[in-house]
Amino acid sequence: MRLDPYLLRKDFPMYSKHDSSFEGKPLVYLDNCATSFKPQCVIDACNHYYEDITANTRRGDYSLAHQADKAYDEARATVAKFLNAKDSKEIVFTSGDTFGMNMAAYGLLPLLKEGDEILLSPSEHASNVLPWFEVAKLSKAKITYVELDEENRITLENYQKALTSKTKIVSLASVGNVLGYAIDVKKFVSLAHEVGALYIDDAAQSVAHKKSDVQDSDVDILVFSGHKMLGPTGIGTLYGKMSVLEKMKPLFYGGEMNARFKRDGYLTLDDIPERFEAGTQNVAGALGLAKACEYLSSIGFDAIEEHEAMLRKRAIEGLKKNGNAIIYNENSDTGIVTFNIKDVFAQDVATYLSSKGVFVRSGQHCAKILPEYLKTQGTVRASFYIYNTIEDVDTFIAACATAEDFLDAFFS
Ligand code: ALA
Repeated sequence: MRLDPYLLRKDFPMYSKHDSSFEGKPLVYLDNCATSFKPQCVIDACNHYYEDITANTRRGDYSLAHQADKAYDEARATVAKFLNAKDSKEIVFTSGDTFGMNMAAYGLLPLLKEGDEILLSPSEHASNVLPWFEVAKLSKAKITYVELDEENRITLENYQKALTSKTKIVSLASVGNVLGYAIDVKKFVSLAHEVGALYIDDAAQSVAHKKSDVQDSDVDILVFSGHKMLGPTGIGTLYGKMSVLEKMKPLFYGGEMNARFKRDGYLTLDDIPERFEAGTQNVAGALGLAKACEYLSSIGFDAIEEHEAMLRKRAIEGLKKNGNAIIYNENSDTGIVTFNIKDVFAQDVATYLSSKGVFVRSGQHCAKILPEYLKTQGTVRASFYIYNTIEDVDTFIAACATAEDFLDAFFS
């Protein structure tokens, strides 16, 4: 069934509480790849922990703590269902995608040795590059890259060329955060497995937009943040196949991740996933994240993809009609439109659009190798989501039409 963004807006206080306006202008929020708005049910789920069942989890032998434990366990099971994981023990709560990627990279460090290859792409976000740089230095493994094609996509052909018998880890975003191109994860995973490599899916930009099924894709690890998929900030997930989690070393050490330790340094780790969640858990965040999973599932990913494609198509047509834009991803696979206005710096465009109530991101979007390929220092990125309307697109396009007048934003 078609999604109705006007109906959905009623669920989001950022619209319903402020009558879809901000600072006296219509609120045209198009920075959903950076973070999304949160529906009331997610906020309520977080508040439920703070208002009704506050207690530290996994430590308390009293009924209030048991209720918090139960809610936390149920949240883990909901996320497992959302990803179609075999077992909720394969779900580790993190603070977000960056934490998850660091946990994966450092966790797999003991499996790497000199000469091994870690395969990335030039379009990856910093959180899927920099942890690997560090781990490569420590293990003397080598970072290699899949070359991009003329459209700056990762093609199956180039991926096959980059995979070698030395590739031990492949880590790629299933949807790129700048150009919104998707890869065929299932196919990529099977080819990685053929050369004996582990496959890590940076799903930060895909979980909110496309159906994830870790059993079908057979990824070894999948990492994402809650806040880009209607969930709270400060919570995310690392899914790992049990056989992979068993080989991983925890990144953090402390309370509740150990079963025993002694003064001589002897340590027995707790079970999985607890050994990866040292310290006090973000219970409110986990409850909110689980609610976001349920909310997205109730809308359905077919409807989400269809809505984003419709908005993106209209935006591309509008920018082309304006005639003053350079578009970098005309054939993007999600609701991301990345462009520049001719002869205007990306940041100036974003500031100008902001003066019209249109909020987009500009710059390098944390993917700092990609500008070499785009042959520009920065771009403007509009990212559409479920609550964006046709009117949002039209306001955005009308504002872009006059973006050469960007100095007005500074002197008005
Ligand atoms: N990774 C986020 C983005 O692409 C912040 O904007």
